[in-house]
Amino acid sequence: MLSIEKYQKVFVNYLNDFATPKAPNNLYEPIEYILGLGGKRLRPVLTLMTTEIFDDNYQKSLDAALAVEVFHNFSLIHDDIMDDAPLRRGKQTVHEKWDLNTGILSGDAMLILAYQLFENYEGDTFKDLAKLFSKTAIEVCEGQQYDIDFETRNNVTIPEYLKMIEYKTAVLVGAAMKMGAIVANASIEDQNSIYEFGKNLGIAFQLQDDYLDAFGNPETFGKQVGGDIIENKKTYLFLKALELSVDNQKKELLQFYDDSSSNNGEKIIKVKQIFDESGASKATRDVIESYTQKAFSVLNSITISAEKKRLLKEFGNALMNRSV
Ligand code: IPE
Ligand code: IPE
Ligand code: MG
Ligand code: MG
Ligand code: MG
Repeated sequence: MLSIEKYQKVFVNYLNDFATPKAPNNLYEPIEYILGLGGKRLRPVLTLMTTEIFDDNYQKSLDAALAVEVFHNFSLIHDDIMDDAPLRRGKQTVHEKWDLNTGILSGDAMLILAYQLFENYEGDTFKDLAKLFSKTAIEVCEGQQYDIDFETRNNVTIPEYLKMIEYKTAVLVGAAMKMGAIVANASIEDQNSIYEFGKNLGIAFQLQDDYLDAFGNPETFGKQVGGDIIENKKTYLFLKALELSVDNQKKELLQFYDDSSSNNGEKIIKVKQIFDESGASKATRDVIESYTQKAFSVLNSITISAEKKRLLKEFGNALMNRSV
């Protein structure tokens, strides 16, 4: 096994060879741009690591890892359009730097390019990877639609929220790991267990993403802090605050999320205060911890060495303590 940093490095080298200039420029330049902006490379690293966890060579899963990262970046271009987001990884979003149509078509092309990468596999491996990818990609679309639907609903429940983040985010983390296991020809039981591990880690990851969207440091976060509050996103922070806050705060919170004319700066400050005072911030930190532990408990049923389990836990703990 290599270190996490080493997998990242190997992956980025592979990615750089993939993202080379092609014509028409206005289709491919945004693709190079978004892929070159960096990011944590969390999903592809998990794919490579998982192949080695199941005793095969990470080189074999580089194309699957690349497919996952290209798909993820496609979803970010379209997500930023849907969320009206100005910033991504500290730089202008694609639709801001170019325009809406460019974001739509370059995103579409990336989805196809991701799919195409599976053609580098054969037989059952190809079939299993492509099937998992299709299932995951459609679930991500479903999750994204729920996310948008919830913006204009004020009776969203916590189970509904959890299902939404499972679909929009967690299934791709699970799939990234399962792909690594498929390439390594791991047993079906191990493939499913590692998927469950990744999915629970992915739920913790999105909860943390929502937390940072409100409480991250604007200097380092790389996205517009408070964007979810501006967009009336029904996050765990918001739903818990509704549940825990006293009557007048609850009324104020609902008003802020109903009234599109409120001043965004003031809205963000007031809403964050309610998140803190109601105990919603603390409840969110607790639930992040609990999904991380749930992921770790799945590891008990996997037949891998204690050292490999330790590495996976180290990865999970690092994610939980991240600031970007
Ligand atoms: C952002 O994902 C979108 C979510 C699913 C929360 P990441 O936080 O992994 O984004 P990058 O790739 O590191 O920028
Ligand atoms: C994004 O969720 C999920 C997908 C891109 C599928 P968010 O909208 O919370 O992601 P960020 O915060 O913009 O990265
Ligand atoms: Mg977004
Ligand atoms: Mg979104
Ligand atoms: Mg977010």
